[in-house]
Amino acid sequence: MEIQSVGIIGCGLMGSGIAQVAAASGFEIRVVEISDEFLEKGIGRIRKGLDRLVKKEKITSEDADAVLSRIQGGTSVADLAPCDLIIEAVTENLETKVAVFSQVREAARADAIIGSNTSSLSITRLMTEVEDPTRFLGFHFFNPVPVMKLVEVVKTLATSQETLDSAFEFTRKLGKTPVLCEDRTGFLVNRLLIPYLLDAVRAWENGTGSKEDIDLAMKLGCGYPMGPFQLIDFIGLDTILHIAEIMYEEFKEARMAPPPTLKRLVMAGRLGRKSGAGFYEY
Ligand code: 3HC
Repeated sequence: MEIQSVGIIGCGLMGSGIAQVAAASGFEIRVVEISDEFLEKGIGRIRKGLDRLVKKEKITSEDADAVLSRIQGGTSVADLAPCDLIIEAVTENLETKVAVFSQVREAARADAIIGSNTSSLSITRLMTEVEDPTRFLGFHFFNPVPVMKLVEVVKTLATSQETLDSAFEFTRKLGKTPVLCEDRTGFLVNRLLIPYLLDAVRAWENGTGSKEDIDLAMKLGCGYPMGPFQLIDFIGLDTILHIAEIMYEEFKEARMAPPPTLKRLVMAGRLGRKSGAGFYEY
């Protein structure tokens, strides 16, 4: 199926990024949020993302207006009835996602492709909530969505080859590169990234080096754009903790167990850049 119209549920950090990139690539977008207030915030985030590109003279303000004109906002999943593809990008909580997919089941066209941007939950578990599992898959984007070139396309036992082909084609039209993954917690990137980030915390906890030096070491020694503590603060400590807990639950490997300091910082509300403090102060 050639995808032309895309519905996105959730216009937070990830949903707004996906909407911006897809609208900029010429797709007709409908975004759904739980309230007008959240919708306004999400559209504001997209506008800010486009303004950034205008300021950098990557696009003109007319281009930005044209992108925005391709995005329609609403507060009802029923608005997504005409969409060829629907991507869920709501909070990483199974009950919330299950509730969303029960509305999608009512609203979506029978031949629509349905995807989830989950970073930690099982695509197979979510698949059981939709009408036709052959048309269901994971679309895992990376933060910041307009910058990061990768999308993990996650298949289950039921996902059809036709669905995967459409997903690959769509991803490439966004200017991203897809990689195919089986449905295993963490997929490819988080499977490798999360234990690395947790190990950085453990190296600091056991006094191998300071946070600043560990960050410098990985930036200058490996050419990473951010050190591990900067990246944890960027992604959000609560997000890292949540993914680590689910990965540990699935694999029971010590390297996936969240270290004590990470847990305590989350308990104390130090969630990273978004809360003004994490491993560093902002
Ligand atoms: N939105 C849009 N564009 C952004 C942006 C944002 N939030 N942040 C930065 N950019 C753009 C800038 O405009 C700039 O574009 P240009 O080179 O075309 O002018 C480019 O990115 C570089 O930005 P800056 O010069 O301002 O700053 P940096 O060079 O420090 O780059 C960064 C910022 C792109 C965030 C870089 O530090 C980076 O790549 N960090 C690693 C990010 C990463 O690993 N993300 C994956 C996280 S894991 C994940 O998402 C999975 C989840 O499940 C946990």
